[in-house]
Amino acid sequence: MSFKGQHILSVSQFDRDRIQQVFQVARSMEPYASRQKRTKVLDGAILGNLFFEPSTRTRVSFGCAFNLLGGEVRETTGMESSALAKGESLYDTARVLSSYSDVIAMRHPQSGSVAEFAEGSRVPVLNGGDGANEHPTQALLDLFTIEKELAASGQSIDGMHIAMVGDLKFGRTVHSLAKLLCLYKNIRFTLISPTELAMPDSVVSAIENAGHSIEFSDALEGKLAADIVYQTRVQEERFASKDEANLYRGKFRLNQDIYTKHCKSNTVIMHPLPRDSRLDANELDNDLNLNPNLAIFRQADNGVVIRMALFALTLGVEHLVTRYECDV
Ligand code: CP
Repeated sequence: MSFKGQHILSVSQFDRDRIQQVFQVARSMEPYASRQKRTKVLDGAILGNLFFEPSTRTRVSFGCAFNLLGGEVRETTGMESSALAKGESLYDTARVLSSYSDVIAMRHPQSGSVAEFAEGSRVPVLNGGDGANEHPTQALLDLFTIEKELAASGQSIDGMHIAMVGDLKFGRTVHSLAKLLCLYKNIRFTLISPTELAMPDSVVSAIENAGHSIEFSDALEGKLAADIVYQTRVQEERFASKDEANLYRGKFRLNQDIYTKHCKSNTVIMHPLPRDSRLDANELDNDLNLNPNLAIFRQADNGVVIRMALFALTLGVEHLVTRYECDV
């Protein structure tokens, strides 16, 4: 199964074999990501890194991943710095920029926009998040993290219990992760959100059709004794107004006291980040920072090797990485 030349737009492109193919290449990237080894396999190649919405992790880890493979990165950040602000179409932008780049990573505020862009692109396009729709590379790094964290206690993804918490309506990371988990067996989902911010029906149907069990709740208490608690931020930028978002900020705060009372002793805490550290939100308190089961920064670290793997696979160089090793 070759990824060469393919866009990565949605988790629906993956089955369990393809996921394991990405994970195997990601594991082989760890010595390069940790600077123990160096490769120039993408020497001369250019990544077009187009971010039309704010980002820290996704944008920078795409760039680092490409640099670590020996390639160069050209950044476009913000709609106002591109001709999209003058009314140019996504198709025309893609036609032009894809002749300047070997691969493109893109984030955009509208659902479906990255797929629309990919129609005009002559090089692979990797979706770095399109509105409230999907964030497939985040879902892959989340799944990679879950597999690693559970393996440490002899567990596997099949049969696990995951509690997803917060803004499940607009949180694209939980949409993509839930769909990927539909490829696994006997998963127990606990979906904790205000009713107004519940998981979209299409995702709930996918979970049900996969034969998993789902429990819905609008309170944290008594619902967190899961293998994984995946906390999310209220996606303020997707609400009609800040005032509307403020109705929900701070509703589901997880801190060490709640962890001690309601989680298992080895419950892994995840969050795609950024966490909202403002006092009226604070969905994941800093007092959890020393909790060894807080996996949020291991998640962010895993983003580099997953994105290195996706670049190597979509550019068809995954088997050449060692051949182009150079001095550290
Ligand atoms: N997880 C994530 O997408 O983070 P950024 O918005 O910082 O890229």
